[in-house]
Amino acid sequence: MVKGLRGGGQISDLSGKVVLLTGATRGIGRKAAHGIAPTGATIVVVGRDKERVDMLISELEQIEGCGPVHGEICDLLVQKEIRSLADRFNNQFDRLDVLINNAGAIFTKKITTVDGFERTWALNHNAYFLLTSLLKDKLLTTPDSRVISTASDAHVPGRMGWDDLQYERRGNRNGWSSYCQSKLANILFTKELAKKLEGTSVTANCIHPGFVNTGFSRNNGIIGRLLMALTWPVQRNSTKGAETIVWLAISDKARQHNGDYLYNCKLGRLTKAAKNEEDAARLWLLSEEMTGTSGVW
Ligand SMILES: NC(=O)c1ccc[n+]([C@@H]2O[C@H](COP(=O)([O-])OP(=O)(O)OC[C@H]3O[C@@H](n4cnc5c(N)ncnc54)[C@H](OP(=O)(O)O)[C@@H]3O)[C@@H](O)[C@H]2O)c1
Repeated sequence: MVKGLRGGGQISDLSGKVVLLTGATRGIGRKAAHGIAPTGATIVVVGRDKERVDMLISELEQIEGCGPVHGEICDLLVQKEIRSLADRFNNQFDRLDVLINNAGAIFTKKITTVDGFERTWALNHNAYFLLTSLLKDKLLTTPDSRVISTASDAHVPGRMGWDDLQYERRGNRNGWSSYCQSKLANILFTKELAKKLEGTSVTANCIHPGFVNTGFSRNNGIIGRLLMALTWPVQRNSTKGAETIVWLAISDKARQHNGDYLYNCKLGRLTKAAKNEEDAARLWLLSEEMTGTSGVW
């Protein structure tokens, strides 16, 4: 039995269960992997750099009670790579108990991906949607499986620019606007996913980790690093930032949530835009087109 979880509930031995986690090599994802490891679950950690993935595996293997850890290399900005990650996973594992869509970033400089999408949208939304869709059958055939997505309170100023989701015409305030839109999309995605999964035993929830001291924004040169350094006093550490993900992944009490947005293991506040069911359905259809997954759901 693992003790000391905020949010409460009993954590059972999760040996034999399988958890797949993206963005595992740094920040919130890394600490989520640390938090899940003592349950004995098989953890599949996804990263884009083999050295960082191998380093994480060695770290996790030193944690008492840690089960098997598998590393997967995937650049989530590239849909072809996500498809081959899903193929490898589907061939190797016969179950998926917890899928954690966590990898994400803000980009101050606009770059279009090989698939033709603005990269914040590609990484923070399309990758969550595509990976979840490709793992749908595994989730459905695993009893009581869970999907957890890392969203953010940055959804508050977020607006869905339906005729310009890729920021080809709108001003993007150094990447902040598209970041906020993508985090709003994470919540709409979760709400519609929970709806699609009604009548099954799969639950889907998303979280706000707080403002966390991680590698976030440090990919944006000196200004990005400076911003994170200057705001350090109001940031929480990544163990704290990962707490709600860990709780949703391993606590029996967390099963009461479905289609919810959580912060500190409790219901978080949502804007009107994040509760808009029509927008959630509209986003779903567009996401199917953007990821070539029409007919999967
Ligand atoms: N930090 C905050 O205050 C905060 C607040 C609200 C929400 N969030 C959300 O929390 C999530 C995790 O962010 P974090 O703060 O932990 O940032 P982080 O320390 O920069 O971690 C981001 C993770 O995503 C991975 N990643 C980035 N681009 C990738 C790609 N193209 N392919 C595969 N993996 C990729 C990174 O891998 P590498 O190791 O290869 O870089 C890293 O493991 C994000 O969704 C973010 O939007 C963060």
